[in-house]
Amino acid sequence: MKPDLISNDSQLNSSGKLIHLLGLKGLPKKQIENILDVASGLLDNQGNLKKSKTLDDMSVANLFFEPSTRTRNTFEIAAKRSSAKTINIDLANSATKKNETLTDTMQTLKAMQIDMFVIRHKKNGLPHYVAKNIEGVAIINAGDGINAHPTQALLDMLTIRQHKGSFENLSVAIVGDIRHSRVARSGITALKTLGVKDIRLIAPAYLHYKETTSPELERFDNLNNGIKGVDIIMSLRLQKERMIAAEIPNEKNYFENYGITNKTLELAKPDAIVMHPGPVNRGIELDSNVADGPQSVILKQVTNGIAIRMAAMKVLAQSL
Ligand code: CP
Repeated sequence: MKPDLISNDSQLNSSGKLIHLLGLKGLPKKQIENILDVASGLLDNQGNLKKSKTLDDMSVANLFFEPSTRTRNTFEIAAKRSSAKTINIDLANSATKKNETLTDTMQTLKAMQIDMFVIRHKKNGLPHYVAKNIEGVAIINAGDGINAHPTQALLDMLTIRQHKGSFENLSVAIVGDIRHSRVARSGITALKTLGVKDIRLIAPAYLHYKETTSPELERFDNLNNGIKGVDIIMSLRLQKERMIAAEIPNEKNYFENYGITNKTLELAKPDAIVMHPGPVNRGIELDSNVADGPQSVILKQVTNGIAIRMAAMKVLAQSL
């Protein structure tokens, strides 16, 4: 299994400073912890967000070529709370529709004094390509194909740290469509970097990676066996848009075998938390009683997404 399919070499400069955020593979533990610490500093004791002036006079552009609710809006809110000007590029009406190359469109936006670009695209490595071809701006990967979703993994790590304090002794179950999930790839990379040694990948055979060779990873086809005694359950969305028709599972069968219910939860530790990156398919990935239950931290993940995105932009702004 290869977490993050594309090399992130271009995100660090020759002094090791973060100049883009493309993926977590290759990002030192200290840099990940720094972003988590900066994000924690942006939250008060009740977990509510503070404001920050760190991006005063900067402009941040969102380029979302795939649908998004959480990531796009939390990036916009994060930029606004950091006093940046934000622009959501209307891609349906942009010059890319008139065959302008993405690089030309972005050079044009750069000429409009944009400092940071937040990019989501169905193509693996698209943000990495842009980062290599445009200088003087910071690129943030908001999800590229099945490759990486670094800010999602960071907000997940912040949520875990808030609930569990440290990572080394945790058992984490990742359940569902692992094969097509950029959230899982970045999450596994982050968990390993932060010292988690027991990461259980639970899925039907056709939604697993072809091979799992890392010592931290154990593969399970049976949900009840995999989930026994875990501290964290990370449920994943079925990524139907990345499957061919023959691969799309029967939803009733899938829920019966891999849906998280209160009965499944009884097998995990009593204080286990349930996470999901959203959007949740209720009755397929999670029973509503679990999604809305006391162990669910799904909405906390959303709020933490703003703190993490503010923190990532603050760190990147130091290099601009
Ligand atoms: N978790 C996540 O990426 O959600 P959105 O697709 O709503 O941005």
